[in-house]
Amino acid sequence: MDRLRIIGGRRLEGSVRIAGAKNAALPVLAACLLSPEPVTLTNIPRVSDVETMLGVLRTYGVRIERPRPDMLVINAADLAALDTPWDVVRKMRATVLVLGPLLARFGKARVSLPGGCAIGARPVDLHLKALSALGASIRVEGGTIIADAPEGLRGGRIVFGSPSVGATETALMAATLAHGETEIINPAREPEIIDLVECLQAMGADIEGAGTHRLVVRGPTRFRAASHEVLPDRIEAGTYAIAAAITGGFLELTGARLEHIASVAEALERAGARVWPGDRGLIVQGDGRAKAVDITTEPYPGFPTDLQAQFMALMAVADGASVLRETVFENRFMHVPELVRLGADVRLQGTTAFVRGVPALKGAQVMATDLRASVSLVLAGLVAEGETIVNRVYHLDRGYEEIDVKLRRCGADIERIAG
Ligand code: UD1
Repeated sequence: MDRLRIIGGRRLEGSVRIAGAKNAALPVLAACLLSPEPVTLTNIPRVSDVETMLGVLRTYGVRIERPRPDMLVINAADLAALDTPWDVVRKMRATVLVLGPLLARFGKARVSLPGGCAIGARPVDLHLKALSALGASIRVEGGTIIADAPEGLRGGRIVFGSPSVGATETALMAATLAHGETEIINPAREPEIIDLVECLQAMGADIEGAGTHRLVVRGPTRFRAASHEVLPDRIEAGTYAIAAAITGGFLELTGARLEHIASVAEALERAGARVWPGDRGLIVQGDGRAKAVDITTEPYPGFPTDLQAQFMALMAVADGASVLRETVFENRFMHVPELVRLGADVRLQGTTAFVRGVPALKGAQVMATDLRASVSLVLAGLVAEGETIVNRVYHLDRGYEEIDVKLRRCGADIERIAG
């Protein structure tokens, strides 16, 4: 298992190319299962979650070409096995996204209940509810979801009490092959949803309302060959923006879009950093010690839960006390004990973290526990005195393309130790 060794105290300066969004690439890859025509995808991030999804697609006989590292041509014309066993889904929760497309196209699907980041219960009931609303019969037996719609899916009305990114994606994909009109009320409005809708539209789907509180899909779609460029990763962009702020640095985040991280930029500005759009993306300038700022995570366009851990690292060394409330997942503070090992002063009460900024953190051995938790330890290591070793770097590799290389190019003292 690889480790990262970081010597803190270097100010970051330079340019970081923001990769395509992992959380957009995964649903778009699942959507390729809907169509017998080839789909060409560009700006695909080179992260291990994408490899996991490609591994799942290969088990069905999907043909995958990679003319360039960031480009994939997916051809799901002749599919064979349709079972999705535990050993391919256990690594990543987002593998459940294959359920909707397989069911919609073939009238049946068997998918093991997914594994993935251990952040809270993370059930899949909303995915299943959406498919039931389109006429599927669903049962869970021995850890496997068994979904059937022998006559095909039919359009229906799907009402989400609280928005779910993944369940909205399942509903959208399945509805493209359902007969008639599907209405999705209170869908997620994340940029990755809009990206999926744009990809499905390029493939031939008739969808209205992306980014609003009501989506309408008219099916069934006659799919055609299509190309789609995945949008830039707003979570990677936000992470590097926080890296600039925490080191008092100056970073250009090429490809990043301010409108995708407006809530984060606003929090960073309140903390004393400056964020503004540049010619090629975003510019972020840190300015001395950050000021304490309270945040509450919320669905888009609120402050993203996927940046809460990173923002906590910044608040750990800020001037003053801050309150970080997590409203999206009930157990997303696994980075707290590890930040405390580095000298952070954090007290947890349910889904709220009370952080009292300390003048300096001290390097230590820490353990990565999930994707975003682990990157918060890297950020803390960038400013901790002395050496920080982050163990279990495979969590980071799930969603960050070459994080050690990108940080080193901007002046960080960081190296990967193979192990
Ligand atoms: C996606 C992102 C993840 C991000 C999250 C919230 C991907 C691959 N992952 O995850 O990085 O942190 O959105 O922005 O895009 N829920 C249920 N039942 C369900 C589904 C979800 O109760 O069937 C709950 C979850 O436990 C959670 C909330 O709904 O409390 C939001 O989860 P959801 O938006 O579905 O997150 P994911 O799609 O899993």
